[in-house]
Amino acid sequence: MFELKAYIKQQNQLIDASLDTMLPHAQSPDTLVRAMRYSLLAGGKRIRPVLCLAACEAVGGAPEKAMTVACALEMIHTYSLIHDDLPAMDDDRLRRGKATCHIAFDEATAILAGDALLTLSFEIIATAKPPDETAAARWLQVIRLIAKAAGYRGMIQGQMLDIASEGVDLAAGELETMHRLKTGALIETAVACGALLGGANQHQRELLDNYARKIGLAFQVADDLLNVEGNPERMGKSTGTDSLRKKSTYPSVLGIQASREFAERLVQESLQALENFDKLANPLRSIARYIIERKH
Ligand code: IPE
Ligand code: IPE
Ligand code: MG
Ligand code: MG
Repeated sequence: MFELKAYIKQQNQLIDASLDTMLPHAQSPDTLVRAMRYSLLAGGKRIRPVLCLAACEAVGGAPEKAMTVACALEMIHTYSLIHDDLPAMDDDRLRRGKATCHIAFDEATAILAGDALLTLSFEIIATAKPPDETAAARWLQVIRLIAKAAGYRGMIQGQMLDIASEGVDLAAGELETMHRLKTGALIETAVACGALLGGANQHQRELLDNYARKIGLAFQVADDLLNVEGNPERMGKSTGTDSLRKKSTYPSVLGIQASREFAERLVQESLQALENFDKLANPLRSIARYIIERKH
């Protein structure tokens, strides 16, 4: 039996250790560095890097090959959270069980810490040495994929739609587009990068893309549900905030029960996409279920 909890714990230790080495030391007198470390090393589920490593493994690659890119993805994700919490956006005070970056430091520092994590992510990928010639071409492809997913055709566009849609009733299709962009894009890229670095062939890549599209959307549906039903202490962030800010979410558009069913269907479909993979894809299979069953 595959034990997801132990797997995630083990991968998280490796991810956290790598992230720790990518930033100057904890005792740095530099406020900017302290703010970057504060948010990046504050815990978090590390689901995007774990997915990246698991996708690499699923196609027979050694997960270490994907570690640098996995960490870069976590930096981008953390930057997006720092900015998402700012007063100009969701105005949240709690994240990963701690005061948000702009509360612990100040707004300007939080904006700059986010900017710095984003740029550092590309610096570490561009600095890392691909293991061989074939990997070098894939490395460039990885940089392109991440830049696109994090940018105006991906996550940023999704965040823009999210802000623009406060107080607006979105149709189900518009909501799906927003969620696919703001959250799905980076998750899809985590899987695609892991697959590429693991040496996936075209067919495997297509199947994994399909898997990732489903779980990327399911992840945000679950986040919406947790904002209604979750326990804020367990989640380390506030709940009830989406309705306060009149956000369009799956529960607000479809209702709770239909949102749960939708998430369940997405997970079933994601598992179908993995049907022809062997047991090396077991981590990906378990993560799909975890994404909608998680309590934080
Ligand atoms: C929260 O992401 C923001 C979304 C994109 C839904 P996570 O739920 O992955 O947050 P951490 O990284 O575990 O804190
Ligand atoms: C966050 O979405 C998406 C990004 C940061 C790109 P939410 O605003 O819904 O996530 P939480 O609930 O604050 O974690
Ligand atoms: Mg938001
Ligand atoms: Mg938010």
